[in-house]
Amino acid sequence: MRPKSALFYIDELSELMDEFIVKLENDLDNNRKVEDLSETCYEYALDAVGVMFIGTKLKVLQGSEYGKQMIDKVTRVFNQLVVAQSIPHKIAPYVPVYKECVELCKDIYIMSKEKIDAAVKNHKEDGSLEGTILLKMIERCGPDSDIPVVMANDALLAGIDTTGNTAAFLLYHLATNPDKQEKLYQEILQVIGAQGMMTEEALAEMRYLKACQQESARIAPIAIGTIRTAGQDMVLSGYQIPKGTFVMRVGVMMSTDDKYFDDPEAFMPERWVRGCPQHQKPRNAHANLPFGHGPRACVGQRFAKLELYMLLFKLVQKYKFSYDGPAIGINYFGLGSPNGPLNIKFEKRM
Ligand code: HEM
Repeated sequence: MRPKSALFYIDELSELMDEFIVKLENDLDNNRKVEDLSETCYEYALDAVGVMFIGTKLKVLQGSEYGKQMIDKVTRVFNQLVVAQSIPHKIAPYVPVYKECVELCKDIYIMSKEKIDAAVKNHKEDGSLEGTILLKMIERCGPDSDIPVVMANDALLAGIDTTGNTAAFLLYHLATNPDKQEKLYQEILQVIGAQGMMTEEALAEMRYLKACQQESARIAPIAIGTIRTAGQDMVLSGYQIPKGTFVMRVGVMMSTDDKYFDDPEAFMPERWVRGCPQHQKPRNAHANLPFGHGPRACVGQRFAKLELYMLLFKLVQKYKFSYDGPAIGINYFGLGSPNGPLNIKFEKRM
């Protein structure tokens, strides 16, 4: 999961974004508005996981049945997990919601294994997995290891609703902040041009693009926080915490607290850009951790960020987009998701 591993997929993600745009154009009504963009964001996220972790084009944006089933199953697992994980272990195997959750996870495993087996078979004939994470893992773990399948499975479980909902909020924040969108467009013009393609070098220069992503995830982190079990007796903020206690860091409370961020409700990517007058020095290094922290932090974060950068770059390069409906907030039932339809208007720039 080194930084370079994710950048290997820039061109693949660019192709997926072309498919995203085809789908978007089909979904637009006479006023060039899409009814709700969230589903398309999920489809893009799953297609991206397919390319990056399973070495396979799942054709979700093109409407594949596999994609529909996978999104449905993963979304259901996430919703049920909220209830299932709080059931005491001893009785869990007898509780219907838990049993259904286990069945769904089995289905997802079988579905991802089927694709991996096919990708490996094709690779033997045409070398199509050359350079991919999947091949590196197979080479490292050996042909009989289960680890590549487990990793792909984790990526499917952890990489659809997460990136999909984060993407939805990112687009919402840019759609409701036209001045910031314009500033990003100017950065795109300066670094890549109106028709140019993203490259590794260009991405390294695009500080405002990255700041937009970081700022959006600060305001609307889709993981409400992270949980750890105390490994030893400890004192936290004056409270005695016995070993074994579940401790939850409610990250969204810190990332939207004016103790740590000036005007915390405002979407202000400039606060992350050194040299901008609005740049803010961190008051607490742990105040904004949308991907968690430490050895158990999100393993997919570099991939997720690349997906988000490519999504935003491609859409802002091609369109001016706006939203004039009721304010959309975050609904935390399991993962955070938009509490209203992403009814966005897209006007072509040329
Ligand atoms: C914007 C999208 C995403 C967000 C916001 C996100 C967020 C998170 C968070 C908060 C955690 C828990 C970290 C902790 O406890 O410190 C996590 C764990 C994890 N994420 Fe992500 N994630 C995203 C996308 C992805 C993707 C695309 C993958 C695909 C590989 C992925 C795979 C995982 C895995 C496997 C874990 C468990 C890591 C472990 O327990 O060691 N995530 N993610």
